[in-house]
Amino acid sequence: MDSQTKLRVLFSRGEIEATVKKLADEIRKDYQAKHPLLIGILKGSFMFMADLIRHLDFPLELEFIRLSSYGRGRESSGKVKVVQGLHSPIKAREVLVIEDIVDTGLTISFLLDYLQKKQPASLKLCALTDKPSRRQVPINIDYLGFTVPDKFLVGYGLDWDEKFRNLPDICILEE
Ligand code: IMP
Ligand code: MG
Repeated sequence: MDSQTKLRVLFSRGEIEATVKKLADEIRKDYQAKHPLLIGILKGSFMFMADLIRHLDFPLELEFIRLSSYGRGRESSGKVKVVQGLHSPIKAREVLVIEDIVDTGLTISFLLDYLQKKQPASLKLCALTDKPSRRQVPINIDYLGFTVPDKFLVGYGLDWDEKFRNLPDICILEE
């Protein structure tokens, strides 16, 4: 971290914990008898996924998919590719996608189209944070943690140039 980089806590670990628990309660109500498949988008969602599933006390399965959208740095390239795909079929499964942040929406829009073509029984989205001011394509978020301002966020899985994912709080990166 250079001397110009400042971090300001936006959501503390305690606030995140309470929100993750609230999301888990909503998800439990809808999915507890459905044996869902949760698909986490790497790398950003790993911490959220790990905390969320500890509150989901019913049978479920996990998958991870790795996409590239942002290059290094802050700006979305708009081009999305699957870098690491799924290892199990999702046809006829109850699929819940777990994302760290929906920004322009380009990444998640690509992924939902990609998954829908594989004919899941249902397909829903859970996002920890939403930055609606930056949206370029409409996205329906079924389970949302926090709506966030148009600032660049790091921590709790979110990175800037692969750094700061390990921070336990969600912080605004100020320069
Ligand atoms: P979108 O395609 O613009 O919606 O971007 C989604 C992806 O960009 C997320 O999964 C994040 O990896 C990354 N991203 C968007 N905004 C931020 C941010 O504020 N901090 C860190 N990563 C971000
Ligand atoms: Mg990222």
